[in-house]
Amino acid sequence: MDGNGRWAKQRGLPRIEGHRRGVETVRTTTFAARDLGVRMLTLYAFSIENWKRPQEEVGALMGLLEYYLKKELKTFIRDRVRFRTIGRTDELPAGVQKHLRTTVEETRHFTDYTLVLALNYGSRTEIVDAARAYAAAVATGKEKLNDSSWATFSRYLYCPDMPDPDLVIRTSGETRLSNFLLPQAAYAEFMFLPVLWPDFTKEDLAGAIAEYNRRERRFGLTSEQLKPAASK
Ligand code: FPP
Repeated sequence: MDGNGRWAKQRGLPRIEGHRRGVETVRTTTFAARDLGVRMLTLYAFSIENWKRPQEEVGALMGLLEYYLKKELKTFIRDRVRFRTIGRTDELPAGVQKHLRTTVEETRHFTDYTLVLALNYGSRTEIVDAARAYAAAVATGKEKLNDSSWATFSRYLYCPDMPDPDLVIRTSGETRLSNFLLPQAAYAEFMFLPVLWPDFTKEDLAGAIAEYNRRERRFGLTSEQLKPAASK
């Protein structure tokens, strides 16, 4: 969700106004995605590196997050949205953690649609955390080092039951991954859209999904292997 700052700057507003508008886009996109048939949406809301931003901006983002969680719980329950997080959430302010726990707990039984917020998230940190947990499991004999594979190791990631993303979208024209779901996105399709996050609409998402549907995902195979009948 990139471009909040530039959106505000273009209008002569403080950066936090861009984040405030960004929260509105989080709301509309959560439901737009579900309407378009998406089963799981992961939004990168706060990276580990974002702590380095000015203290005032970090504080405002945490305030917005708490406000958002307080306000959305009723909507999640009404619309049967399961809410989850990835990231080192135990390092977030106590008030945010409390609302996260409540929101996760009260929506855990919904199965049709899941919203995941990446909070205090970084892919490299996730791998380090998983490696530590995996090493502990090897030390206690729960796992055998000789059996190591991605299938066994990935059980130690933040949300082991979360499927790999099919499509990763970054807004604002930047063409970087910025430490987001690096191993999980190994076979994802990527789209880098020029639109700034506060201006991102359901039509932008529908357009990205339509483009995704036109792409051929080969997972290392050839086109002929994927469509043997059509290629003859
Ligand atoms: C990137 O835009 C955006 C972020 C670092 C934070 C994303 C946060 C929100 C959308 C609001 C908070 C979210 C929730 C769920 C409460 P940027 O600030 O880097 O924009 P710029 O690149 O134009 O400066």
